[in-house]
Amino acid sequence: MGEWFQILFNPRFGAERKAEFGPVSRTRLFNRDMALLSGPENNLLLFRGEHKFVEATWPASTLKLLGPNTLSTQEGELHLRRRRLLAQAFRPKALVGYLPLMEARISAAIERWLQRGELALYPEIRALTFDIAAALMMGAHERTDAALVRDFETFAAGLFTIPADLPVTAFGRAKRARRRLIAHLHAAIDARLGSGETGQDVLGLLLAARDDDGSALGREELAEQMLVLLFAGHETLTSGLTNFCMLMAQHPEVYARVCAEVDRVAPRGPLTVEALGRLADTERALAETLRLQPPVAAAFRKCTRTFEVAGFTVPAGWLTGYRIRDTHRDGALFAEPGRFDPDRFAVFEETCPHGRVHAHAHEGRYLPFGGGARICLGMEFARLEMRAFAALLARRCALTLAPGQDLTMKQVPVPRPRSGLVTRLSPRATTTH
Ligand code: HEM
Repeated sequence: MGEWFQILFNPRFGAERKAEFGPVSRTRLFNRDMALLSGPENNLLLFRGEHKFVEATWPASTLKLLGPNTLSTQEGELHLRRRRLLAQAFRPKALVGYLPLMEARISAAIERWLQRGELALYPEIRALTFDIAAALMMGAHERTDAALVRDFETFAAGLFTIPADLPVTAFGRAKRARRRLIAHLHAAIDARLGSGETGQDVLGLLLAARDDDGSALGREELAEQMLVLLFAGHETLTSGLTNFCMLMAQHPEVYARVCAEVDRVAPRGPLTVEALGRLADTERALAETLRLQPPVAAAFRKCTRTFEVAGFTVPAGWLTGYRIRDTHRDGALFAEPGRFDPDRFAVFEETCPHGRVHAHAHEGRYLPFGGGARICLGMEFARLEMRAFAALLARRCALTLAPGQDLTMKQVPVPRPRSGLVTRLSPRATTTH
């Protein structure tokens, strides 16, 4: 089995290995050799090596459930072509069109939460991000129906399991849920094609999208690609938004600045991409949330060709990967790395020509969305939804954490507080509504 338990569950594993052996060392994972690499240079090396000497690798259960026709499981030239095609649904112009739906769903959720007063936010945020993703990807007009949400949860629960296809196993249940989800996606695709209008949501834009040679995605592949977008696009956001709420409640002085900024820049009325882009304090608070608690802790790779790193040889066939959480917690890269300090991004922005902190992925040291040829396809979608959520929350809510709850972090599948973040929401005193 090797050190799988340490690798998956010990948040200090990478740092401990680095302290003992330096930035390049060796371990074993599920009977395979693995090169543990750390530090910005090695992150950049792996980003540059995508499709050249490393490729994505997944456990058998994930591969079987995702299927071969998805961006996450495609390789080489095909992967690059599919990215160009799928990216047509994530361009700035497309995102502008998604904002009103995001805003409507977030505002409605916040009003429901305010009526309840005290509630566990994690499951609520999860339902919200799924609702938004399903509406934009499957064209659901009403709130997503419960059976679909359950099927999706069952599907996700089987992704990292033993791939035994039996009625009682998590994997077997996930396979059946996948069949129903794919059928649902086929129905959504057929209904849209039948209506004669494609529309401007993700489904519509992907139906209209064309490959370099002018061909469109086939119905089967489109459904599988959308299933992965749905998966990739909501668990991570749920983690980011839940942890943002927790950190805002724990750091009222930071939340006060976010609220003051929203009151100044976007106090009422429909949100615009332009106004959200001017929320500098809010952006820093979100960026720092993703630094401290990155929703994706690490990404695995398989070496397809032998390569050299810092005087060592990593043979073809070995596993390797880059580690986001360890990079973000490296004291040499971030002073007092365990401290929540959004202002550290002010320094980043000064040295970044676009003022966009995520551009620092290129330096290999701030990489919540990964980097290189597999950098998160939904990065701008995620950043937009996070800013919209933060602005609408700040407009309406004061946050207090319920006392006595367990706020230690559960890491798998995404980091979030064990208690589910039981929070009291009340209308903000200065609210303009
Ligand atoms: C805060 C939210 C998010 C975070 C932190 C995040 C993080 C990441 C990371 C680290 C990767 C790279 C994985 C690797 O190197 O193997 C990735 C890939 C990906 N993400 Fe995201 N993601 C987020 C939201 C989204 C959203 C909203 C979508 C879609 C709507 C999305 C779609 C994808 C896809 C399709 C890939 C695979 C890209 C490829 O293999 O070419 N993500 N994400």
